[in-house]
Amino acid sequence: MTRTYSRITGTGSYLPPRRLTNADLVAELATQGVETSDDWIVERTGIRARHFADAGVSTSDLALHAARQALEAAGLEAKDIDLIVVATSTPDMVFPSAACILQNKLGIAGCPAFDVQAVCSGFVYALTVADAMIRTGTAHKALVVGAEVFSRILDFSDRTTCVLFGDGAGAVVLEASETPGILASDLHADGKHVGILCVPGQVSGGVVAGHAMLKMDGPAVFKLAVGVLEEAARATLAKAGKTEADIDWLIPHQANIRIMQSTAKRLKLSMDKVIVTVDQHGNTSAASIPLALDAGVRSGKVKKGDTLMLEGVGGGFTWGAVLLNL
Ligand code: ACO
Repeated sequence: MTRTYSRITGTGSYLPPRRLTNADLVAELATQGVETSDDWIVERTGIRARHFADAGVSTSDLALHAARQALEAAGLEAKDIDLIVVATSTPDMVFPSAACILQNKLGIAGCPAFDVQAVCSGFVYALTVADAMIRTGTAHKALVVGAEVFSRILDFSDRTTCVLFGDGAGAVVLEASETPGILASDLHADGKHVGILCVPGQVSGGVVAGHAMLKMDGPAVFKLAVGVLEEAARATLAKAGKTEADIDWLIPHQANIRIMQSTAKRLKLSMDKVIVTVDQHGNTSAASIPLALDAGVRSGKVKKGDTLMLEGVGGGFTWGAVLLNL
């Protein structure tokens, strides 16, 4: 009996047109009495610019652009898709899911569509879920999207967080294949760390209760992130029977260049093997990995047949990795 695997057959991405360099953001924050600088942001994070969606533009709008590009790259039409999974922590509304809204915007109906909420690890979670559904025959051609409008949950009076994030979307088409494709994945969560990275708000009685703005203990997240990213990468390589030397490209969650440098060093990979977009996108949470993947593919660096290690870490605390052959 032939086994079924899943394989990425197309990638796409989208950034909203409003781009703010650090200088733009520093000037805007100064008008509100919030002091920061290009030097601090670049030195501590590697971020130089980010994109913010205009008012009225939602996660599903960004997802739609990225999804259309991924479909085109895969040579498919929306009607061919039989599963939609969207990784997001900033959905259009409490419910229905951004995935259902995206499905309607794509002009299709009937296939299962749902969101996965694992914050910045969302895309590796979503990819793993879609891979499992394809391997069991539940789906054959899936659209897996990471899309966020984090600008909506930023507290612009908190300089320790508001300079870090941006908006965007990335998407892949994942199809059933006789050859892998996705080789292995490794996902984890530890809810005891909820307090170091959260948006502690909810809708109650028609109003927002709590504080619906992003709160982060950056240094605590940083310390945890470096360790778990190495562990997840090593566990994934072991499951696939591979070593660091087999990795052509490391495509990590784009939160901070220093986290990426530490992870690469621990995995004995040179930074030449790491796709970096944090400088131009900032941290786009669940969108960051598929955005970086698509940037790598479209720049010609990441090629068909390459072995890629995708890895994410974020609120929850959640973390995980996916090793795949493109
Ligand atoms: N501009 C100027 N100064 C600032 C700013 C700013 N924007 N923000 C903080 N500072 C100051 C602080 O007040 C502090 O000053 P003090 O020493 O006088 O108290 C100083 O800079 C150092 O602050 P730290 O927080 O210790 O700086 P650090 O080097 O740790 O960098 C950062 C902070 C960039 C947030 C880092 O900790 C980080 O990247 N953490 C990880 C974030 C991450 O990976 N998140 C991933 C998941 S995101 C998700 O899931 C949604």
